[in-house]
Amino acid sequence: MFARKLSSWFLITGFTIVALASSKPWGKTPAGETVDLYTLRNAKGMEANISTYGGVIVSLKVPDRAGKLGDVVLGFDDFKGYLLPPPYFGALIGRYGNRIGHAQFTLDGIVHHLAKNDGDNTLHGGLRGFDKVIWKATSLSPTSLQLTYLSKDGEEGFPGNLSAKVVYTVTPNNELRIDYSATTDKDTVVNLTNHSYFNLAGEGQGDILGDELTINADRYTPVDKGLIPTGELRSVKGTPFDFTQPHVIGERINANDQQLVFAKGYDQNFVLNHPGLTTVAAKARDPKTGRIVEVLTTEPGLQFYTSNFLDGTIHGKGGKIYAKHAAICMETQHFPDSPNKPSFPSSELKPGQTYHTTTIYRFSTDAQK
Ligand code: GLA
Repeated sequence: MFARKLSSWFLITGFTIVALASSKPWGKTPAGETVDLYTLRNAKGMEANISTYGGVIVSLKVPDRAGKLGDVVLGFDDFKGYLLPPPYFGALIGRYGNRIGHAQFTLDGIVHHLAKNDGDNTLHGGLRGFDKVIWKATSLSPTSLQLTYLSKDGEEGFPGNLSAKVVYTVTPNNELRIDYSATTDKDTVVNLTNHSYFNLAGEGQGDILGDELTINADRYTPVDKGLIPTGELRSVKGTPFDFTQPHVIGERINANDQQLVFAKGYDQNFVLNHPGLTTVAAKARDPKTGRIVEVLTTEPGLQFYTSNFLDGTIHGKGGKIYAKHAAICMETQHFPDSPNKPSFPSSELKPGQTYHTTTIYRFSTDAQK
């Protein structure tokens, strides 16, 4: 028993002993695959629990302005909750985050037909996206976990064997850093993200309409009624999409704007003014607890989604009901439908190239500012 416990926490390499993240078995899939749950924790007590099923961030505990830790992501206590269809709580999303119109795209003159799982479109990688596969986990340290997955040529219709790697790190500064990389053996498209549903007041603690939000984006990509971008990059100026200065989310969410009507709230891709890890792309603050999250990313886009499809039928952690607007998602990404939009930044990946993107969710409180 002792040896087993020791081997799961420490790796003995030559003469040095390397500390690892703790883990425990969390269940089995209907196919009999084992699912593990890893815990990453920094010295300040920030803690992330991550499942090998879907690479899901199952819980994320960060302090409020009084220093009290709270779990700020929606999810389930039991891994079986994640076997159900969407809403993709906390999951890794691939091969292609968000929608590809008509579930097809043309690359090098070849038309690729994808799985349809959102009307006529492909959403978040198809019927069995990266949120529904088992990732191979390697603990790198007590605060860092590497997950890898080989997506076979033709999976959900995408070309090429794609080797995907995601490293989750809880940093000493209360950041959750996510490094995504991938390589392929055939020309393909790739767009990886994480679909955490944040409620800074704590999961299940009401809606996010009172949160204050800033998005460093002068433009966004409007959609048609199937939520596929039209190709236009529209100015946010004078619209409910202008978050260049802080605005309370609920202030304009019911405005008479066709885009808000199509999406039943916010569910649009924002064109970030300054992608990169030195500029804050988005910032949300919950006035009740003082918790703040800042998003930094190398990606050109950010999907701001106010969980419009949650309808109160999902019972999450502790049986709590997750209703409409119970969370915000800030999915960093290439723009939706880029494979069919030559004017958007390219999501193509070729053999010999390495896809690499980084996103940081940095937590603090308004007591620190
Ligand atoms: C993304 C999409 C939404 C919705 C959710 C998952 O945020 O933009 O339209 O599909 O994922 O429910």
